[in-house]
Amino acid sequence: MSFDFDAVIDRRNTDSLKWGLYRDRDVIPMWVADMDFRSPEPVIEALHGRVEHGIFGYALPPRELAQVVVERMEQKYGWKIEPSWIVWLPGVVPALNIVCRAFGDDGDEVLTFTPVYPPFLSAPPLSNKSLKTIPLRREGNLYTFDIERLQHSISPRSRILLLCNPHNPVGRRYSPEEIRRVTQMCVTNDIILCSDEIHCDLVLDGGPHTPAATLGPEVSARTVTLMAPSKTFNIPGLSCAFAIIENSELRAKFNKAREGIVPGVNALGYAACLAAYRDGEPWRLALISYLRANKDIVYKFINAVPGLSMDDVQATYLAWIDARGMGVQDPARFFEARGVTMSDGMDFGGPGHVRLNFGCPRKTLLEALNRLNSSHPAT
Ligand SMILES: Cc1ncc(COP(=O)(O)O)c(C=O)c1O
Repeated sequence: MSFDFDAVIDRRNTDSLKWGLYRDRDVIPMWVADMDFRSPEPVIEALHGRVEHGIFGYALPPRELAQVVVERMEQKYGWKIEPSWIVWLPGVVPALNIVCRAFGDDGDEVLTFTPVYPPFLSAPPLSNKSLKTIPLRREGNLYTFDIERLQHSISPRSRILLLCNPHNPVGRRYSPEEIRRVTQMCVTNDIILCSDEIHCDLVLDGGPHTPAATLGPEVSARTVTLMAPSKTFNIPGLSCAFAIIENSELRAKFNKAREGIVPGVNALGYAACLAAYRDGEPWRLALISYLRANKDIVYKFINAVPGLSMDDVQATYLAWIDARGMGVQDPARFFEARGVTMSDGMDFGGPGHVRLNFGCPRKTLLEALNRLNSSHPAT
């Protein structure tokens, strides 16, 4: 089966967040994490079928869906979950905020590793919790957890740890051993672990993704795992995500904290999710090959530009670019003036960096890279 990831599809007049903000300017948007590819055909067909029906009442999850998720966890990770552990949600960001509200008291501490996806930094204060950030440390050419620093940061008021696994923006697919060190600290110090695994199906380096909750019953008993089909199958605008929470007490607290505020999933989101997970695997595998080739181009190009560098991207379609060597005050604005919009590292707790989204057709990618530095043409 072949899929056309090279097709350049105009998104300028589709009210897309990514493209719409720059509609009237000659800027290539490579910021927010959605891709410029059409979703898998089975997803589009399922949506057509649902729209054709013409009635859009409040929705239940399709009967098959929980079983599809249960089987997916078993097949991919050997993780045996029960349908009752699944909590459907309109997004992962709402779930990060629900977690921060659900557990602990006002003023308790939420820990997270930086740089990180900005809602990890905003959710704790929005929930009257205090945020404690632990910078990732360099080991060889990659970022990893600074466990000693984590240990020193933990206090009797530390209640929750928000983990990004795989890690946006640094592109790490953590090894089981790395994840184990973090989960051990949570178990030892009675900390609830919230593991955002939204990028778990976007592993580019062939290695395994490790759901934190699979590292033992004592870990699963204190973990809220967050997943979604949205990044992988390019349906983030359809608002469908889920939590997996084994511990019924945690689940009850989580559900109580969302009550009356966070709605369920809509009928189109459910239909797309079911089709993506049930029938989207050939497309996903082809996507991974395409993204890997894009990543190789970005990696070679960026590391050849004086003043810029990046690590290998083991997972996600996001490159975390260190621009501190360029000596410019605000790299995001500097590159925007050259015609490419990337996410500002400052928002992730990583000033001097930009995040480039390479989930786009190769033609778009090459044009953007050439705008970044026209004296080193990208190929
Ligand atoms: C780590 C992470 N979590 C959550 C989200 C967004 O989740 P949602 O759109 O389901 O709220 C993103 C989007 O980029 C992300 O990278």
